[in-house]
Amino acid sequence: VLERPRASVWGHMHSQRFSVAYDFPVVFTHDAFANDNPWLAEILRQREPGKPSRLTVFVDDGVLAARPDLERKISDYAATHSATIALTGSVIPVKGGEGIKNDPELQAALLEALRDRAVDRHSYAIAIGGGAVLDAVGYAAAIFHRGVRHIRLPTTVLSQADSGVGVKNAINAFGQKNLLGTFVPPVAVINDTAFIDPLPAREKRAGMAEAVKVALIRDATFFQWLEDESVALAGLDATALARLIEHSARLHMRQIGTAGDPFETGTARPLDFGHWAAHRLEILTGHTLSHGEAVSVGVALDARYSVLAGMLPAEDGERVVSLLRRLGLPIWHDALRTSDGENGLAVLRGLRDFREHLGGELTITLLRAIGRGEEVHTMDPALIGRSIDWLASWQAG
Ligand SMILES: NC(=O)c1ccc[n+]([C@@H]2O[C@H](COP(=O)([O-])OP(=O)(O)OC[C@H]3O[C@@H](n4cnc5c(N)ncnc54)[C@H](O)[C@@H]3O)[C@@H](O)[C@H]2O)c1
Ligand SMILES: [Zn+2]
Repeated sequence: VLERPRASVWGHMHSQRFSVAYDFPVVFTHDAFANDNPWLAEILRQREPGKPSRLTVFVDDGVLAARPDLERKISDYAATHSATIALTGSVIPVKGGEGIKNDPELQAALLEALRDRAVDRHSYAIAIGGGAVLDAVGYAAAIFHRGVRHIRLPTTVLSQADSGVGVKNAINAFGQKNLLGTFVPPVAVINDTAFIDPLPAREKRAGMAEAVKVALIRDATFFQWLEDESVALAGLDATALARLIEHSARLHMRQIGTAGDPFETGTARPLDFGHWAAHRLEILTGHTLSHGEAVSVGVALDARYSVLAGMLPAEDGERVVSLLRRLGLPIWHDALRTSDGENGLAVLRGLRDFREHLGGELTITLLRAIGRGEEVHTMDPALIGRSIDWLASWQAG
């Protein structure tokens, strides 16, 4: 806070100060649109008793394809709960995957839909989908009328375990990931295991990378659990996956809720461990590497770098890479070796993007131990190169 200078010919100052408390439910349930599932209706009723809330529902087209019954279930649910729910129309399909975050025309269509349905600041825009659809719909909801109420139903392991319970949204622009976006907590999050069952195996696996990430920076016991359950998890066992999701989501929630910087005004972004390389790899591979897969490679890279930087015992670095491999996650992509045309590695630009995104000093989370992240402010390109070489030899071995 600015100290009041001595009154002078230069004028005077008033202080303006307020804070806004956020409090939103994150529900773990099965089959959220079963007629007798109380959660969605109850959340709406408690926010606005006595009259139906207007809901506009956007659904990832990948989810619609995997769950042909979903549209009918949503309208049945709304009909059963007509005292609390009034749909503004049929569900609006949204192209699933990173495409929606890259395409300005598709983004404009989301805003048009909000306008056509006359969504106002007391109505709800509901997003059902993977992290990309949640990001794009969340962004549209955040800027439409300067923000309409938003409820998320994440449908992938990654979005249920990580992004869906967070407070950010974003779209990509000018070739850069997540360049435009806002920090806006949702009104509620409903994690429904029924969406995970039909998810393609590759997507189920990719989401586990974020759980490994958050375990590594915050929770050694959870890391141990992931190791102990690695056979069930690698086999995509539904019960093991549900437990992974809930624990990972709660660690993300705790970080955001209690670490004192939910809107990332400082320079540190611990939940983005492994992400400086991951974001760059997503772009370098034209998104053939998904976000979760890129995070897996990025986590492996930064774990090894932590060893070479003298922060982490070598055997712990090996535990990280071997867990990722046992879960069926990648620790390598040839794009790690892509040159920037001037004798450097193209992936290194990720460090610059990372610093520019946050501003201020470069701050990267590395590992001091399994379960304990630690911030550093420089990374040595030569050590990054050696970490990449090491990953290449592991990959080959
Ligand atoms: N806002 C944040 O804090 C944050 C955090 C982490 C990641 N993200 C973003 O999340 C995105 C990645 O999300 P993702 O991993 O969920 O993948 P995704 O959203 O790209 O979805 C992957 C594919 O799965 C399909 N799909 C989704 N749910 C399905 C289901 N239940 N059944 C069948 N198919 C389904 C989609 O149509 C898509 O084709 C990235 O854009 C990433 O940047 C955001
Ligand atoms: Zn991530």
